[in-house]
Amino acid sequence: MCESLPGIKIAPWRSPLARALHRNRSQPYSRYFQLATVQADGRPANRTVVFRGFLGDTNLLKMITDTRSQKLDHILHHPWAEICWYFTITREQFRIAGELTLIDGNHLDSELQKARQLTWQDLSDNARVQFAWPHPGKPRGDQQAFSPPLPDPNHALPCFCLLLLDPVKVDHLELRGEPQNRWCYLRENPHTWSTTAINP
Ligand SMILES: Cc1cc2nc3c(=O)[nH]c(=O)nc-3n(C[C@H](O)[C@H](O)[C@H](O)COP(=O)(O)O)c2cc1C
Repeated sequence: MCESLPGIKIAPWRSPLARALHRNRSQPYSRYFQLATVQADGRPANRTVVFRGFLGDTNLLKMITDTRSQKLDHILHHPWAEICWYFTITREQFRIAGELTLIDGNHLDSELQKARQLTWQDLSDNARVQFAWPHPGKPRGDQQAFSPPLPDPNHALPCFCLLLLDPVKVDHLELRGEPQNRWCYLRENPHTWSTTAINP
C-alpha cells in the first residue's frame, strides 16, 4: 500500500469531508468515528476512535491504538474495515471502507516509523499515559497500576500503534435536501476514483 505514499492525488471525497470537518468544528466529537472490523469468527466488532488526520499528502486516514487491544487480532486476520462518521451540525454521514495497515514498533518502513513517532509526540500526556496502563480488556488491575510514570514524549512505547485506513469506497449521505443527497465514490485504480450520485 505504501508505495502510494508520495505525490498521490487527493481523492474527490476529500473536499466534502474537509467541508464537513470545518463546518462541524465547534463540536469536538466531530473528530470521533466508529471503526468496524471483522473478528476471526466472522462476527463484526465496532468501536469509537479519534480521527488523527491524514498521513502527509496521502488519502490514508490515521488512527492510533494499543497493540494489546482486541481489534489488533481482528485486523491481523481481516484487514478490511469500515468507518462510519456522522456530523451532527450538517447532518451528513460518511461510510469509508478500506484496508487497515498496522504500524507498530517493529514496522520496517522508516517513513512510516517516523510518522508513528511524530504521532506519539503530538499526543497529550493524558493520551500517552494510557499506553502505560495495564493490558486493555483483561480483568481490572489495581488502582495504582493506572498511575504509572509519564512516558517519554520522544520515544513511543512498544504497544503504541499507528493505524492507517486506505479507502476504496466512500458513501456520503446528506440528510439535508429534499430529497436527500447521496454519492458513491469508488477507487478504480490506485490513482483514479469514480463519483456517482445515487438514490438516498
Ligand atoms: C470518544 C472515544 C474515543 C476513543 N478513541 C480511541 C482511539 O483513538 N483509539 C482506540 O484504540 N480506542 C479509542 N477508544 C476506545 C475504543 O472505543 C475501545 O473501547 C477500545 O479501543 C477497545 O476496543 P477493542 O476491544 O475493539 O480493541 C475511544 C473511545 C471513545 C468513547
